[in-house]
Order: sequence, then C-alpha cells, then structure tokens
Amino acid sequence: MERMPVWIDTDPGVDDALAILMALASPRHRVLGLGVAAGNVGLVHTTRNAIKLLEVAGRSEVPVHAGCDRPLLHRGPDAAFVHGRDGFGDVGYAAPRGRPANTHAALALLELSQRHAGELLVVTLGPLTNLALALRLDPGLPARVARLVVMGGAVTGRGNITPSAEFNIAFDPEAAHIVFSAWPRFDLVDWEATLRHGFGFDAFDRWVGEGGELARFYRDISRASRAFSAARAGAWHSADGLAMAVALEPEAVLESTVRQVEVELGGQLYRGATRVDWGRPEDGEGNARIVQRFDQERFVGWIRTALAGPPSA
Ligand code: RIB
Ligand code: CA
Repeated sequence: MERMPVWIDTDPGVDDALAILMALASPRHRVLGLGVAAGNVGLVHTTRNAIKLLEVAGRSEVPVHAGCDRPLLHRGPDAAFVHGRDGFGDVGYAAPRGRPANTHAALALLELSQRHAGELLVVTLGPLTNLALALRLDPGLPARVARLVVMGGAVTGRGNITPSAEFNIAFDPEAAHIVFSAWPRFDLVDWEATLRHGFGFDAFDRWVGEGGELARFYRDISRASRAFSAARAGAWHSADGLAMAVALEPEAVLESTVRQVEVELGGQLYRGATRVDWGRPEDGEGNARIVQRFDQERFVGWIRTALAGPPSA
C-alpha cells in the first residue's frame, strides 16, 4: 500500500514530539521532513530538539528544515514556562549529531508540494509563520496539498496563552490570518477540543512503562510539562498529539462542524483570538472543519504506538 507523504511544521515542544513520533510510527504515512519554527521556544532550540528526537527514534534520515526565527510582524511571549527553556524539559540531553538541511522550511515545503502534487498531507503543530511565508512565495500551494490539519485556536474563546487566544495563533496572528484566508478548507484541532481529550497521569506512566529508550526519553523531556499540567489542570493533554491523531486517522473523528474561522489582529485583549459566528446556522460553508470529538480509544492507541517506537523505515 502506498504511504501518504506527510510534511510536519512544528515548534518542538513536548507535545510536538509525541505528535511527530505518532507520524513516524504510522504504517500508512511517510514523513518527508520537518519544517521548524520559533514558537514554544527559540528556533535554535526547536531545531535542535527536532534533530535530537529523530535521532533517538532512529529516524535521522528524515530531514529537518529550519524556518522563520520570529513571527511575521510582532514578537510575542514563548511557552518556555510549559516546555522548559530549551523546549524539551531542560533535561540536558546529549547534543544531537545531525545538522539541519540547507533549505528554508518554507522553500522545502514548496518543493515537496510540487513533487507530491495532490498527495501531500501537511500538519502544522506550531505558529503558522512558515506556512504563511510559503503562501506569499507561491499562492498556488493550497491547490497542490491534499489535506491541511492545523493545531490552533480556541473556537469559543477559551484560550491558553491569554484568556481569549491559543498559543500557536497568538504567537503569530498575521501568519494565521494569511493561512486562514488563503486555504479554502482545512481541519482545525483547537485548544478546547484538546481539553476534551485529556488523560490521567497513571495512564501515561503505564504507557511509558510499555516502551524502551524512546519512551524513557519522552518521559524525561515531558516531566516538567506534566508537572505544570498537574498543578494547573489535574490531567495531561497533548494538543499536537490530538491534531496528529486527527491527521493520521480522519475516520476516527466522531464530531465536527464546518465554520468560517477568522483571526483577530487588532486590540490588546483579543489579539490572536479565533472568532466563529456560532449564531449563524451551519450551512456547510466555511474555511475550517472544526474537530469537536475524536475516538479517545484510538487516540490512546496512537500514543501507545508512538511511545513503543516506530517500525524500521
Ligand atoms: O496551544 C497548544 C500549542 O501551543 C501546541 O502546539 C504546543 O506545542 C504549543 O506550541
Ligand atoms: Ca507545538
């Protein structure tokens, strides 16, 4: 069976790491490369984390392309308070051996969209800066991408980095606006859906116990972010993991709605908010298929498979 080519744009980040491991472990998909952005932490760290994760997973043949080191217009706060200063829990892991590829993430995506025109699955797990830049370079990109899945937003206004905005969108609202305006239809997995698909910490400990070196690496880099979640929410959530599960197994989406999602660019209190007109009857029109419920058992299955380690390439 032909594996679906996948491009992942990411700001690793602990939950990004789990999502990437899911994609690497999928028997139906082939990860062509990672495009890395600044977001959770700075680009130097997010790029290094991506290379390190692939090496620990035994998949260093997957190229890592560094992208934009800042938002398109205005800098915003990072998420080191969740993921650690280095983005991977500040565990002091041994430096990776590999180096990023020479091509910028936006250019690499455009090249692959030509080579795999009509077949490419694009999954974004961080700010949309790289994707927005690719769109400005080549507005024909959406027509060549089979499916786009975006982790981002808070569709009824329950944010996480501000009371109204979710981190990926709030970090670069202009980039999100460019993407949301250019793409005729994409799947959106927002922060509020993430909160509906949480797990207990005992379950995580069991799943890590089933794995080997890769699971132990993930246990170590996620320790700080799990402690943050325990203090704040009493459960752990993986926003990027849920988005990746939706990307890898769309048939396990149990509930979704098509709506127009727009990004607030102005103001102080609401900048980066993702607005939906919920008063308008659903008519099948809109740029986003908002995922509302995903089969939790299938989500668990992807997490356990990811932590067990990917099959050989
Ligand atoms: O709001 C959650 C998102 O912000 C996730 O992608 C997480 O990695 C952070 O980037
Ligand atoms: Ca992320």
